[in-house]
Amino acid sequence: MAANAPKLEIKDVGKVFKTKKGETTALEKTSFTISDGEFVTILGPSGCGKSTVLRIVAGLEEATSGQVLLDGLEINGPGPDRGMVFQSYTLFPWLTVKENIVFGLKLKGLSQKERDDVAGHYLQLIGLEQFGGHYPIQLSGGMKQRVAIARALANDPKILLMDEPFGALDAQTRNIMQEVLLKAWEESKKTILFITHDVDESIFLADSVYLMTARPGRLKKKVPISLERPREFSVKGTPEFAKYKEELLYLIREESLKSV
Ligand SMILES: Nc1ncnc2c1ncn2[C@@H]1O[C@H](COP(=O)(O)OP(=O)(O)OP(=O)(O)O)[C@@H](O)[C@H]1O
Ligand SMILES: [Mg+2]
Repeated sequence: MAANAPKLEIKDVGKVFKTKKGETTALEKTSFTISDGEFVTILGPSGCGKSTVLRIVAGLEEATSGQVLLDGLEINGPGPDRGMVFQSYTLFPWLTVKENIVFGLKLKGLSQKERDDVAGHYLQLIGLEQFGGHYPIQLSGGMKQRVAIARALANDPKILLMDEPFGALDAQTRNIMQEVLLKAWEESKKTILFITHDVDESIFLADSVYLMTARPGRLKKKVPISLERPREFSVKGTPEFAKYKEELLYLIREESLKSV
């Protein structure tokens, strides 16, 4: 397959939830394609269907219309080719950090030595070499999310799906986590679909920001971010960054005004 072959194709995907009180359109028919190794952030107002898109790609929710293709194959349920990181902390509390990271690898048949090597590599990548033997309860929120990212990457998925993974963290920790994630992405070259409310975060991380309309959401605009890579924290203070921010804030405001 060519290096730039599309990895993830969302084709006319829509979602209507049927409840006792009637139908809710969570997502209007939406189409987009994410290339191999691309980092895409989805930005949009609350309730516009961001989590719904991600859950459909993850195979946790069924679309009402359309289809999702990963490497040309239709997604019909969850699978190890997609790694997930959520806002809420999802580590296994009875396993150590190291055991959490390599949890899926025993099932894949990797030996103890291979699992140790993988754990060592990812502990170093997330800067938690000293914490391999700790339990999740002994970690801060930011540390737990580092481990969640390491666990997702250790399983070597084709794509990483992240739903506001830093949403519960304070602003300083969040900034550090963005840098940790970029480092992990630059090393792993995974395709990433990342959801956020935070405009700065969406720009800092992405190759492209996909802005969604207000509820019921659909893709409003794709904004390619051509800031240099690898990106340093200082890029947030540049005029180029400010320009992207101004554009996105303006577009979001337009959307938000529709729902007041
Ligand atoms: N299981 C469900 N049953 C019924 N309606 C649902 C369900 N899940 C989501 N919805 C509705 O679908 C719409 C989109 O929800 P979704 O969680 O995708 O939004 P979101 O953009 O992720 O919002 P937020 O930014 O607040 O996380 C909302 O109106 C929500 O009420
Ligand atoms: Mg959500």
